[in-house]
Amino acid sequence: MRAFRSLLVLAAVPAALAFKSQDFKTCSQSGFCRRGRALSARASESPSWRSPYSVDASSIALSSDQASFIAAVKSSIYPDVKFSLDVRIHDDGVVRVRMDEVDGLRKHYDEAASWALLDEPKVSQQVQWKVGKDGVSAVYGAKKDVEVKVAFEPLKVTLLRNGKEQVVLNNRGLLHMEHFRTKESVAKGKEGIAVPEEGLDIDDDAQVVLGAHPRTAWFEGEQEDSWWEETFNSFTDPKPRGPESLSVDIDFPNHGHVYGIPQHATRLDLPTTTGENAHYSDPYRLYNADVFEYLADSTTSLYGSIPFMHAHSADSTVAIFNAVGSDTFIDIGHPTAKSSTSHWISETGILDVFIFPGPTPADVFAQYTRLTGTPALPAHWALGYHQCRWNYVSSDDVRTVQKRFDEEDIPVDVFWLDIEYSEEHKYFIWDRKHFPDPVDMIKDVEAIGRHMVVIVDPHLKRTNDYPVYKQATELGILVKKGDGTTDYEGWCWSGSSAWVDFFNPGSWDWWKSLFKTESQGEQWSWVDSTVDTGIWNDMNEPSIFNGPEISMPRENIHYGGWEHRDLHNINGMLFHNLTSQAAMARTDPPKRPFVLTRSFYAGSQRFGAMWTGDNLGTWEHMAVGVKMVLANNIAGFSFAGSDVGGFFGNPEPEMLVRWYGVGIFSPFFRAHAHIDTKRREPFLLDEPYKGIVRDMLRLRYAMLPVWYTAFREASVTGLPVVRPHFVVFPQDENGFSLDDQFFVGGSGLLVKPVTRKGATEETVYLPAEDQVYYDYFNDYAYRSTSSKGKEITVSAELHQIPLFIRGGSIIPTRERPRRSSPLMKRDPFTLRVALSSDGSARGELYLDDGETFSHQQGQFVWREFAAEKPTKKSKGVRISSRDLAAQKPAEAVDHVALTTYDSSNAFAKDIADVRVEKIVVLGLPAKPSSVTIESGKELRWTYTPGVASSDKKGGTASVLVIRDPKLAITGDWSILVQA
Ligand code: NOJ
Repeated sequence: MRAFRSLLVLAAVPAALAFKSQDFKTCSQSGFCRRGRALSARASESPSWRSPYSVDASSIALSSDQASFIAAVKSSIYPDVKFSLDVRIHDDGVVRVRMDEVDGLRKHYDEAASWALLDEPKVSQQVQWKVGKDGVSAVYGAKKDVEVKVAFEPLKVTLLRNGKEQVVLNNRGLLHMEHFRTKESVAKGKEGIAVPEEGLDIDDDAQVVLGAHPRTAWFEGEQEDSWWEETFNSFTDPKPRGPESLSVDIDFPNHGHVYGIPQHATRLDLPTTTGENAHYSDPYRLYNADVFEYLADSTTSLYGSIPFMHAHSADSTVAIFNAVGSDTFIDIGHPTAKSSTSHWISETGILDVFIFPGPTPADVFAQYTRLTGTPALPAHWALGYHQCRWNYVSSDDVRTVQKRFDEEDIPVDVFWLDIEYSEEHKYFIWDRKHFPDPVDMIKDVEAIGRHMVVIVDPHLKRTNDYPVYKQATELGILVKKGDGTTDYEGWCWSGSSAWVDFFNPGSWDWWKSLFKTESQGEQWSWVDSTVDTGIWNDMNEPSIFNGPEISMPRENIHYGGWEHRDLHNINGMLFHNLTSQAAMARTDPPKRPFVLTRSFYAGSQRFGAMWTGDNLGTWEHMAVGVKMVLANNIAGFSFAGSDVGGFFGNPEPEMLVRWYGVGIFSPFFRAHAHIDTKRREPFLLDEPYKGIVRDMLRLRYAMLPVWYTAFREASVTGLPVVRPHFVVFPQDENGFSLDDQFFVGGSGLLVKPVTRKGATEETVYLPAEDQVYYDYFNDYAYRSTSSKGKEITVSAELHQIPLFIRGGSIIPTRERPRRSSPLMKRDPFTLRVALSSDGSARGELYLDDGETFSHQQGQFVWREFAAEKPTKKSKGVRISSRDLAAQKPAEAVDHVALTTYDSSNAFAKDIADVRVEKIVVLGLPAKPSSVTIESGKELRWTYTPGVASSDKKGGTASVLVIRDPKLAITGDWSILVQA
């Protein structure tokens, strides 16, 4: 048997005991966080606390076009230190506030935004700043209802709508940018601690200057807490640059709910970390980390960080993005039920905060993704089912697993290979003993349009017989130790390893060339793969087994002389970005790449998919995975999923079945398992479990048109693929904390995956609207009311998933069971027309070749289906299909605004024979007298009348089934149902 060395040995202990909390810092173990929290404690204890930061009114300089301004800022505790403030409003109303130290000893890291943002945004030319005695302000927006006020003393930035405060920076005076200083100057008392002999008297006269030196202790505290060095476990961080942390409070005085800042295993509606009834004691942490057996309910940091937060109320949604790449802790409070506070404490970086004025969730998504990019439109196959495990151990193993899926008629699109495919974990290089024929094996998988995904981790084994490492060394592109010259060495799967510095532009073309599948002479290329092989980027936090907090020493040096601490949270995104570019560079023209990442940052959504890492096979992890996927979705990163089955452990059949129920409603749907677990591919299950999972997978495949259409929308508008209740019903207060049920795109499908052991029933909340919700499986119609919504209880036996169609929706599906999604390309469609309470409905369908970028040149089909009453009093309905692309070419596809659309493009022609094979109309009030194509031809149909329930509050809806109307999915048509 092969000896698999593994640090991740599965322990038969309860999950809570296995989490190695001692490996990761809490706020109190982290110098800068202690300092930040202490600042906040002093502020709240002192009634006269006032921010020492103020704008020098005489320094205001408006840009020549008057659209932005810069100003000098000073701090009364350090009058010699200079800061500059830059405030601008973008074309779409987003406000950017930057503050940096001027002429300091060195530069604070100021590049986080440049990695996250698509481009430098355009500053609005419509905005006119008004400089007043106490501050600068600007009123803008189509209705002139938005105002930004920058108060001079103390410095405070407020965004208002209709005079109501939405977002306030430095409301509580916690803004503090520690300036660079030297040990010597501190020792001489020129700065830092200056405690008066008589002690501190902070309440009475906070800003008095004593003698020659500013009295700073009231503000920065009485001790130099971890300014120059910090020890954690056996690691010492030498902190050669001294203190440079950044603290800022960002409050939402009129918003009672905050969401976002993934990734944490918590509820979506973020619980508090401050205040008397704080739910958690530690702040939310953003520090990308490989957390072993993470807890299912905790604010500890996980693998990725998106410093983007929504604040929501029934009146409006706003958001902020704090473009910082260093270790960051965030305290959240709700001083009242209707207000929220946040306090951001970062180890390094400049203040660079974007304020999104909303006022709806959809506006916020548009504003945020205009800045950082919309999710890339994935290849269609990537929405199918992914079968992974650590590891499929040989080519034969892969072939056998594929064969078993086919024998059992279980659909699957992708087979994955984890690290053991490689020789000594030298990624790209196959272990020939077990994988003697990699290209043939991949081609066997690709034969019916399936794909293989192979892992490529960022640690490079330090051995000169590994060409990738050798070339990287020669190019001088490896991350350096703190001395800035020696290549850093750490320990990972491959033993002694080095890491490419992807911040170094010198690494970019080289990395892109590695994935080429044709030989490039001396230069390494991956001839043992195919151009369609997907890539899995794991361990890119980076995970380093012998490093502090299982990662890279903070004093390591990257390109440009920046310390690792400055950009730690961005690091993983660059690896993902470059790998995704590399995958595209394999063909000309490029194909859509598929690259999965574990680590991520704001903007990662442009490069592929993410998953929530090493979850445990527990019910709690299954449930929190749903919330984490929602949190990523509302933070711009839609293509998200959790390991189905749980990475660690051996789920019992009931748990595995339920986890598939979660997976089929995740944007990214992959089963994965740790190397020490028992095999658990669905074909291994006994009946009835196997049959249930097969049916679930078939449901996912039937709904691929819905998922793909949702992804199109996300790729254009930034609206998430899975949408929590507050996004769809922003005024329905009852739903603001809901995170265990959600909507799939704009389709009108509402699902509540079952994540409770032994469940036979579930309650589902139906939104506060006068609407009917149809049970997807039995057509039962539930009525909700506009006043308070409705909680319903539905059957949720093991084979059941509570799934509803909102009245007013039309759902396109493909119902023929197939072995993989490419085989469905010519399959006919079923349209489920779920009539609203007023007898209408609409839906969309987007199709393209699913693998190239030809859609950006107009090769696609985007249809709208509508159902309306032919006349006001009619009990019938007219169902029609029209060309949405022709109506709105500029809004049809990602990244290009087409001016025209040709409905007879080659792709549309290619699928011209694809039919609508069935139309199901739910909720028709009376039996039709005729069902005809508009031209007059009678169609085949059956009608089952509805059955009212005894309480008359619902009942089974009437169902009209129109069979084989012989209509093209690409065609304009209309059907008249007369009743
Ligand atoms: C850690 C990843 O999170 C897990 O999914 C993977 O199987 C192992 N690394 C081995 O590559």
